[in-house]
Amino acid sequence: MSRIETLIGDMTLAEKLGQLTMTAAGHTVTGPVIAGDSTEAIRAGTIGNLLNLVGAAPVREMQRLAVEESRLGIPLLIGLDVVHGHRTLFPVPLAEAGLFDPQIWERTARAAAAAAAADGLAMTFAPMLDVARDPRWGRGVEGPGEDPWLGARFAEAKVRGFQGASLGAADALAAVAKHYCAYGAVCAGRDYASVDISERTLHEVYLPPFAAAVAAGVAAVMPAFTDLAGMPMTAHAGLLRDCLRGRLGFDGVIVSDYNAIAELVRHGVAADLVEAASLALAAGVDIDMMSNAYRGALPAALGRGLVTMAQIDAAVRRVLDLKQRLGLFDDPYRRGATPERAEALAARRRLARAVGARAIVMLKNERATLPLAAPLRRLAIVGPLSSPEADMRGPWWAAGEVQDQVGVVAGFRAALPAAEILQAAGVAIESEDTHGMAEALQLCGAADAIILCLGEAAAMSGEAACRAHLGLPGRQRQFAHAVLEQARARGKPVVVLLFSGRPLVVPWLFEQADAVLAVWFLGSEAGHAIADVVTGAVSPSARTAISWPRAVGQIPIFFGQRRGGRPADPKDHYTSKYLDLPNEPQFAFGHGLTYGHFTLSNLRVTPPLVTPGEALQIQVDVVNDGARAAQETLFLFVHDKVASLARPLLELRGFERITLAPGERGSVRFLLPAPELRILGPDLTPVFEPGEIEILVGPCAERARLLVETIRLSA
Ligand code: GLC
Repeated sequence: MSRIETLIGDMTLAEKLGQLTMTAAGHTVTGPVIAGDSTEAIRAGTIGNLLNLVGAAPVREMQRLAVEESRLGIPLLIGLDVVHGHRTLFPVPLAEAGLFDPQIWERTARAAAAAAAADGLAMTFAPMLDVARDPRWGRGVEGPGEDPWLGARFAEAKVRGFQGASLGAADALAAVAKHYCAYGAVCAGRDYASVDISERTLHEVYLPPFAAAVAAGVAAVMPAFTDLAGMPMTAHAGLLRDCLRGRLGFDGVIVSDYNAIAELVRHGVAADLVEAASLALAAGVDIDMMSNAYRGALPAALGRGLVTMAQIDAAVRRVLDLKQRLGLFDDPYRRGATPERAEALAARRRLARAVGARAIVMLKNERATLPLAAPLRRLAIVGPLSSPEADMRGPWWAAGEVQDQVGVVAGFRAALPAAEILQAAGVAIESEDTHGMAEALQLCGAADAIILCLGEAAAMSGEAACRAHLGLPGRQRQFAHAVLEQARARGKPVVVLLFSGRPLVVPWLFEQADAVLAVWFLGSEAGHAIADVVTGAVSPSARTAISWPRAVGQIPIFFGQRRGGRPADPKDHYTSKYLDLPNEPQFAFGHGLTYGHFTLSNLRVTPPLVTPGEALQIQVDVVNDGARAAQETLFLFVHDKVASLARPLLELRGFERITLAPGERGSVRFLLPAPELRILGPDLTPVFEPGEIEILVGPCAERARLLVETIRLSA
């Protein structure tokens, strides 16, 4: 008989429920600490999993308690939110998605996994795969942006990176695809609010990244806090048992979100904890994170016949199987046994700097403001984000310590050792305080160039960080006006750095400033990465993975909209448009300037008639007719002009990058298998629908800037 079956046969009910329980090891991140001190429960075998434990020594001690002092010696599964790095932080996922580079996405996850495993951890609650089309919602920063196809590519890369070649390896983490599903569609962009979308939108937009994660072998899935049309995901048997496990074939562990099982009572679908625990178990949730519902209420549920021992055993089996696949039974101390070498840390910092620079989106650059021209004898770095290194981390900073973050001033001091660097905050972010404005304006007046650091604090995006107004908090706008006006009067260049976890609605800034870089939250090497791009050491190449609204009133705004029967027509009043604003975003999905200038030509697509078993070869010529070498990103979209259901205006099906020197010509190729042209039929399964399909290639999701060819798809 296998080890697992033998264990299940030996386990008491309390020990079984312990394996279905995950509690915070003494401190909490995002909710109430219910379990308090876990050590006695670990000794008793009634807690089998932990979260939010940082450091190899405490992890090893907790593991030792379980393995050497509990009756059955079942090792603990210990997890943490290693979302964009562990001790060395990489750019937040929304920024990293903008590299459009699956190899990098995998590399940073692999680096984070090695660091977290070196601390003894075996699970990360990542990747977050929630498609986000409403920037009022704070959690878009944690995920891959607005597009499901991009989200699916991101999911594959992150699962490969976190889990590595074998889950049993000392540097592998079990990845957790979260938050299943459609969390990004919360009502009014308010976190935890109800979600109510069509079945079709669920399958076309929100499920694909999770399907890709499952296909990539993700070890675990976390249901979202939210309900979908009244059914909380934590109790959603249809989507967890029938869709995730049944249709998608997921056979891993489902771990609830923090206290989510108990919150089924607040949702109003369970009268008490017993019913809540029963609903979650029946839906297929294996591990109860932090609500103590399984340990505390499943015995009563058994007694009331609401659940069966078979259901409990099935969940225990999946948890023990994951621990076995992680190698925890063979060697529970494998992770954390070997401290990382100094060169591994240094390599990770270099990677963080390179990825940070590549994650910067140059939104605007007029009058060739960027890169800043030398010599720079005196540089003023002003604004509320000019000094706080802590904010460089962004939300979910795992084990990233404040002192290990490189801020803007440190970055420029290192890049321009001969220059005098002057720093002043000018105004606050969290208040209307403006007492520092005069001093900051004085510094700007004495400088050759100005770096204006504006934006949100890191805590203004992420979980439970939604905003109804998407402008600059505090009196930053007043400050920015004053700095820009004074600089213009004196002919001094100003580079605006926009720190945020979401697109910000600041049309006035894009009108007034000559150069604006979206620097998101770039992680531990932020200051160096920013200085690399501003000084020209690195050419900006990132693109925005989310549409930037001109106004909150445009939200939800995304490129994959359906045309409707009266698409916007400025010459026809009775068409879909606003009286007071254009429909178009401030910046389209995929927008991002470079130090080059690229022109596309000669799009060719073969074969002109494609059958379901073939693939389209797509090629386009590119020339860099700019003055500097740069990397261009090109996107491949499709549009099914006539189908059994109206299709989105653009559907993303590919992205490629090309680097060209000034004057250099090249070409970019895409291979598009015909199955990528399928649509979800009336029963929501993929079908080929013969007919004409547009193939579009260009630098962003602005149709007017795309080259188009039409092919025919045959039956
Ligand atoms: C939080 C988040 C989830 C995270 C978990 C553990 O509430 O919703 O993304 O993984 O709790 O920290």
